[in-house]
Amino acid sequence: MIAVAVDGPAGAGKSTVARAAAKELGFVYVDTGALYRAIGLHVLRRGIDPASAEQVVSQLSGIQLSLAFCQGEQQVLLCGEDVSGGIRTPEVSMAASKVSAIPQVRAFLFDLQRDLARTQSVIMDGRDIGTVVLPNAQVKVFLTASDQVRARRRFDELRQKGETVEYEQVLKDIQQRDYQDSHREIAPLVPAPDAVLLDTSNDTPQQAVDRLVALVREKMRRLEEEAQ
Ligand code: DC
Repeated sequence: MIAVAVDGPAGAGKSTVARAAAKELGFVYVDTGALYRAIGLHVLRRGIDPASAEQVVSQLSGIQLSLAFCQGEQQVLLCGEDVSGGIRTPEVSMAASKVSAIPQVRAFLFDLQRDLARTQSVIMDGRDIGTVVLPNAQVKVFLTASDQVRARRRFDELRQKGETVEYEQVLKDIQQRDYQDSHREIAPLVPAPDAVLLDTSNDTPQQAVDRLVALVREKMRRLEEEAQ
């Protein structure tokens, strides 16, 4: 069984690259940001401030979260409701970043993430997969790109979905989330010491996928050699 950890900042292309690489390799793709987003959505719906640790923590015992996989696609179930689409808004992105700084929220999601890698080969993307969730992952990648490239990708994605957003606002949101995600006390966004840095600023999505797949195949080849 192989575990691949793909960490990096918002908009680096983690989900696009990890999903396609998982498909090529026959691994399960797990998007852990979706779990933080589901908690963000839950608290927003209840009119709770996502930055209020006390109020957010009081909600956790009533939240049932699970991931289902249907033909390689991940679905997020929040108390039985499929929220996979509803968690992809700028408001939920910001709420997810805020709730993710709360230690009890991270602890609440820890087992769920870890268990997914116990029984199957996975490519898991997030912020702390190589450092905290799967510290023994055989392959660790820190995927990044410049702020401007990441904002442009996110802007195009939101516009394509019909959202009316301004590029400058998307860039500001990305920079604010980067700051929050990398300056929080618990599990901040930092590359694991043994992570390979992949800067995708000048890559097409397929080039980035090819680089990740090549890294994983090379590692699998070396592991096989060592086992002989
Ligand atoms: O990857 P994403 O944009 O869907 O993640 C949403 C937020 O969740 C992100 O701003 C930080 C948080 N997150 C985290 O703290 N740890 C993870 N493993 C994944 C996401």
